Amino acid sequence: MKELRIGMLGFGTVARGVAGLLHRNQTQIEERCGVTLKLIRIATRTPDKAKGMAGLDAVRVDTDCESLTQDANLDCVVELIGGFDPAEKLVTMALNHGKHVVTANKALIAERGMALFNTAQKNHRDFAFEAAVAGAVPIVKAIRESLAANRIESVHGILNGTCNYILTEMRERKLSFAETLAQAQEKGYAEADPSFDIDGIDAAHKLAILAAIAWGTPPDFRGIHIEGIRQITDSDITWASEMGYRIKLLAIAKRHDAGLELRVQPTLVATGTMVSQVEGVFNAVFVKSDHAGTTMYHGRGAGEYPTASAVVADLIDLARNQQAGIAGTRVSPLSVLPHNLRPLPVHGLIHLQCEYYLRLAILDRPGVLAEITAILAKHGISIDAIHQKGGATAQEAVSLVIMTHQCKEKDLQTSLGVLEHLESVQGKPVVIRIETGLS
Ligand code: HSE
Repeated sequence: MKELRIGMLGFGTVARGVAGLLHRNQTQIEERCGVTLKLIRIATRTPDKAKGMAGLDAVRVDTDCESLTQDANLDCVVELIGGFDPAEKLVTMALNHGKHVVTANKALIAERGMALFNTAQKNHRDFAFEAAVAGAVPIVKAIRESLAANRIESVHGILNGTCNYILTEMRERKLSFAETLAQAQEKGYAEADPSFDIDGIDAAHKLAILAAIAWGTPPDFRGIHIEGIRQITDSDITWASEMGYRIKLLAIAKRHDAGLELRVQPTLVATGTMVSQVEGVFNAVFVKSDHAGTTMYHGRGAGEYPTASAVVADLIDLARNQQAGIAGTRVSPLSVLPHNLRPLPVHGLIHLQCEYYLRLAILDRPGVLAEITAILAKHGISIDAIHQKGGATAQEAVSLVIMTHQCKEKDLQTSLGVLEHLESVQGKPVVIRIETGLS
């Protein structure tokens, strides 16, 4: 049987999953593509971790990443190091040495992807990255191939399992953000430095990739408005629940005539919508397109085997392409042919119109409410509901929660600029946008 000879850079959790999956499901994979996917080499800072692992007896394991990228015995390189340095250099070297590349590196694709796509194209090599977005959920392929007949109108979803786990646990167990984060770290869901996850960067990397594929445009990570979940309190979650909402870190991309709206933000979604029911570490993506309507994809967005499943699926594609003699030509990485890629302008947050949840810490004195509502009214912001929480004295701040009707972000920002300078308003108001019209 023909072989696809594989070298792997890195031997962390996902790489171990790839090695394990290739070993365990070898027969099924061969039946599907007629090729043996053979792991030949691994380069890692910690070669000892591979010792004794099933299926690795004949695999060369060392620390020499650069020589792996040039190894004439290899057809393809799987990059599972993550980050930019040395991953970017090694992927470039591998492509320039005639290897196909499979990666799970979302930061690399979202921020430096174009140069790598060009290098892959120049060398007629396949460059695949299904595992970079939402782990086991086959969303890259779904948008790029299964929905290729459609114009995509919007893509939104939950793209970070750590944040979704934290927000779910805060709601279900009525714990604080800090307590839940510590618990997520103990369980291994959140990194020791969790900022990429909880500050929304990880979800934004994934959104940049999905938007690029959906609209045939170079990934535009810098064009995304990003907010994380650090400022969300257990009280916000409880109040949202009382008003019929859940708070989710939502990644949203929409096509407007004027450009792309791209944002990652904590968002109120009505309880009962499908996205509100996506709980714990799970990811979900909803794609709205002109002829297919709305389609939904749900599953495990991280972890050893779910992510390995996506990596190995890409390897199977490579094997099929190699068999057919069409490597580097069958499907363009960003869906449209490279010469049809067009940068699209950013349709900034300031153009948004939606309903809002506002939380202000106020001093509960006579006339405060009138003062605040007058400022909102002056800027054309109509209030849907208002709740004051906490029975405090005039010296103690209490929480004022305001739900607005649909209004303009520009007007909201102007009024917040005034509100936060009032003597009776303590600290910065918390703003959470409400996404309506969801399935
Ligand atoms: N840390 C990510 C998450 C998975 O929590 O979803 C890898 O992108």
